[in-house]
Amino acid sequence: MDSDQWKLASLQTLEHLERLGVRHLPKPNANLKQILADWLEVTPNGSRAAPIANAPATSTPAASTPAASTPAASASRPQASGQLPQNPNQKSNPNPNPPAVSPQMLGTPAARGVIKPAGPPVESPWTTPALSVQERTEALGELKLKVQACRLCKDLVCHRRQTVFGAGPVTTRFVMIGEAPGTEEDRLGEPFVGPAGELLDKILGATGIPREQVYIFNTLKCRPPNNRVPTDIELDNCRPYFEAQLEILQPEYIICWGATAVRAVLQTTESIGRLRGRFHWYKKAKVVVTYHPTYLLRAPEAKKLTWEDMQMLMRELGTLKA
Ligand code: URA
Repeated sequence: MDSDQWKLASLQTLEHLERLGVRHLPKPNANLKQILADWLEVTPNGSRAAPIANAPATSTPAASTPAASTPAASASRPQASGQLPQNPNQKSNPNPNPPAVSPQMLGTPAARGVIKPAGPPVESPWTTPALSVQERTEALGELKLKVQACRLCKDLVCHRRQTVFGAGPVTTRFVMIGEAPGTEEDRLGEPFVGPAGELLDKILGATGIPREQVYIFNTLKCRPPNNRVPTDIELDNCRPYFEAQLEILQPEYIICWGATAVRAVLQTTESIGRLRGRFHWYKKAKVVVTYHPTYLLRAPEAKKLTWEDMQMLMRELGTLKA
């Protein structure tokens, strides 16, 4: 294949993935042609970039932007243009003129060769003793104030209307984690109140777990501009907040909706397709991994898989009627 043919094939692949609803671009509305041009520009003469077409189409439906979640991995990755390292623990980029888009910033982790497998499913203790209702309420209240004052991610701070901390009862068996606030959540300050929230409510209704019994939050507390997928740096910046939320709530079950929540909570870049259908652990909480409601709205055929995941949970809870 000559370079023009390869360029065309790559563009067609990108467009095909986009039509399938696989969010593989740095920004959902990014210009495909420009990205490809940038990508080709940074590819050494004649050599091919990592073949994005190898990415498994089912791998990361809700949020397939590449990500190794470990701080070390994100520290060594080129910065996306316009994003400054905010975390003091992160090293500065050794390349002062990083390409606008590099092959490493495109595609799934598979395309970048950075799939970090999920660790063995082992239980570990919570770091702190369980808190009383009053202590939980106070601790979450203090944490919420810290989140509201957070200015770590410049790109998010200058676009957000408000932070979206999370909502639900402070004593709960269930925590549900999404990706990041969308337009409605940013407007109202509550998680999952837009179209994805409507579907989430229906799924919860069918599962027999009323939303009022669930604490819901997102891995990111601020809406990314244009609802783009959170970057690893943003996830690392927000990590202390959602980890503290989990530690305060100490749920029995965590449901991760979509690849970003999985990436953040389980610290793996393995696809939902590979992780779903069994329990994982976050400290003493059993973790269910399933597709994000936003993805299910675009790909209704995946709803039956999420329903299977919910049935797995119901079986565990003893609430699945034969
Ligand atoms: N709304 C949220 O609160 N979180 C998501 O992940 C998507 C929509």
